Amino acid sequence: MAKSVTRICGILTSGGDAPGLNAAIRGVCRTAIDMYDIDILGFEHGYRGLVENKFKIMKPSDFSGILAQGGTILGTSREKPFKDKNWEISGGASPVERIIENYKKNKLDCLVVLGGNGTNTTGALLAKEGLNIIGLPKTIDNDIVETDITFGFHTALTVATEAIDRLHSTASSHNRVMVIEVMGHKAGWLSLYSGVAGGGDVVLLPEIPYRIDSIARHLEDRVHHGKTFSIVVVAEGALSVEESRLDKKTFKKSREQMSGSIGYRVAREIEESTGIESRVTVLGYLQRGGTPAAFDRVLASQFGTAAANMLAEGDYGKMVALHDNKIVRVPLEKIAGRTKTVPLDDRMIETARDVGTCLGD
Ligand code: F6P
Repeated sequence: MAKSVTRICGILTSGGDAPGLNAAIRGVCRTAIDMYDIDILGFEHGYRGLVENKFKIMKPSDFSGILAQGGTILGTSREKPFKDKNWEISGGASPVERIIENYKKNKLDCLVVLGGNGTNTTGALLAKEGLNIIGLPKTIDNDIVETDITFGFHTALTVATEAIDRLHSTASSHNRVMVIEVMGHKAGWLSLYSGVAGGGDVVLLPEIPYRIDSIARHLEDRVHHGKTFSIVVVAEGALSVEESRLDKKTFKKSREQMSGSIGYRVAREIEESTGIESRVTVLGYLQRGGTPAAFDRVLASQFGTAAANMLAEGDYGKMVALHDNKIVRVPLEKIAGRTKTVPLDDRMIETARDVGTCLGD
């Protein structure tokens, strides 16, 4: 058994679930227990489990056979201990105070958190409170800074691309515009990559507010050149140029009055502008469910085992990341509060434009 600075550690999964979470849990637990004899407490449903002190002592049978399983065996939630002001805690403590209490009560040497921006930001804030934290970058949105990619993204990309492939046959049979709405509120990685992979004719990202007349011109030009159908990929966070000029409050209000999600509105606008019959598919949670793609199983396993080695070394306060195909360790404070959006000069934006994709501008 190799030496380890960490004797007991907690692990939790928080935020939207993503394919690969169980592979990451397995990577952390198998390495930590088998190589370093570390005891692991698996806290249930994200930070809520830590506040309520609900956990199970992880045994090999808990993480056996979960590599290919979607979701998370620990459960998850979107609780934000530093933000949720109405979180009623028995005894009048705040969620953060209770987390610190339970961290000490269980004699944890470290807490490993698997999650997206919110989860790793909470981890960075807990590190400032003196807790030893290690973060892993999980999200289908791929919008975490300081890592080239997050686990979950590849599987969601595969699901979205397969869906776009399928829409081609029905679009061409009916000479229709097919609008497919994919996940990604703040960042358009999923819509951009699946749009290029699936041959989307129009791809709308949150980063590039769209003009409906640009889209209409592009679609009409396709018809003029004999292309009787088109595929429009829309990120759920896409917005129009007009909307991009609104202040937050007005924008929120206008969206509350919008009937249906953005994909439906874009389809309506296309029909009104071009007269081409349009239909909508919202891919939703299919992008997050089911078995992880092989790439995500491998990446999540690499991140998990790397985190276990950090536990052994006592190298806390960092997030495991992938940089230029190497597994690296990034200080959590560099992650906190930031979102990795698609840079307008990103090479994939260039690729999309080079193959004639309309990006709505
Ligand atoms: O953060 C991942 C994500 O799937 C986003 O793409 C999506 O907008 C959001 O979660 C949905 O959140 P919830 O699961 O809480 O509905």
